[in-house]
Amino acid sequence: MRSDSTNEPRPAQRASHAMTISYADRFRQKDAVEFYESQEYGSGSYSTAIWQLQRPMIEQILKDFRRERKEPIRLLDFACGTGRVLASLEPLVDSAEGIDVSENMVAVARTKCVKARLLVGDILAGPDLLQKNYDVISCFRFLVNVEPELRGPVLHRLREVLRAPDGRLLVNVHGNSRSLRHPAIVWRRRRERAEKSGAMLNEMSPVETRDLLRDCGFQVVRQFGFGMLPPTLYRTPLRKAVAAVDRSLAGDHWWNDWSIDMLFVCRPC
Ligand SMILES: C[S@@+](CC[C@H](N)C(=O)[O-])C[C@H]1O[C@@H](n2cnc3c(N)ncnc32)[C@H](O)[C@@H]1O
Repeated sequence: MRSDSTNEPRPAQRASHAMTISYADRFRQKDAVEFYESQEYGSGSYSTAIWQLQRPMIEQILKDFRRERKEPIRLLDFACGTGRVLASLEPLVDSAEGIDVSENMVAVARTKCVKARLLVGDILAGPDLLQKNYDVISCFRFLVNVEPELRGPVLHRLREVLRAPDGRLLVNVHGNSRSLRHPAIVWRRRRERAEKSGAMLNEMSPVETRDLLRDCGFQVVRQFGFGMLPPTLYRTPLRKAVAAVDRSLAGDHWWNDWSIDMLFVCRPC
């Protein structure tokens, strides 16, 4: 079982150009897509365990939002990838769209999503790809790994198309530099410098993320956390006990700033 949820595809990374591949190109190759589906989100993987905690809470956020709003809800899943999040959320909204730069990721999403409109394209190069006034925008497993200089422009663009003042952005950071996994990431960064395999070992802190969101026009209204204990423990005989602890600590709690995977619910400000 893999335990390193920020690290993402490996097969393509072994190419000699691995260290220079952009995040937008990373998931274009078929072997990266295959890895994401069968390994990163294979049955029994750490990412799958975290998703099993996250999914019901995200669905509940959408259901609560729906009760409050009483008007049709339009969802955008930005960087929708293989449709993992979109397929779960589309039944809870009136209309749904997913967009991603990778044709191969979107091809898998097409097999999972029933009603969402799926687009392939780069929202920075083609601003007209998006409609206006989405009620909810989701953005999962993107922010921490995309090149830092692109985080702001993407969030600004998402802010422009989110309905104000009551729309919601659901964005996660699946590599918290204040979590108990941080020492393992530091150690792996040292090892990676020697191996140059191109594994993604990025992290962001809760403060850094909230500051970025605020600078891009978002106010965090709720923060959830998933996964407190080091993922490595999931590969030991303690797995069941560790999963039970992570399950009991997941959600909207005061200790979320130490969770490995942080989910921010934001509104425009
Ligand atoms: C780790 S995957 C996450 C997919 C999905 N959100 C999920 O959580 O399963 C990251 C996705 O971001 C997409 N991506 C990278 N750069 C992008 C960009 N500039 N615009 C849109 N999508 C992008 C990749 O193609 C990839 O599908």
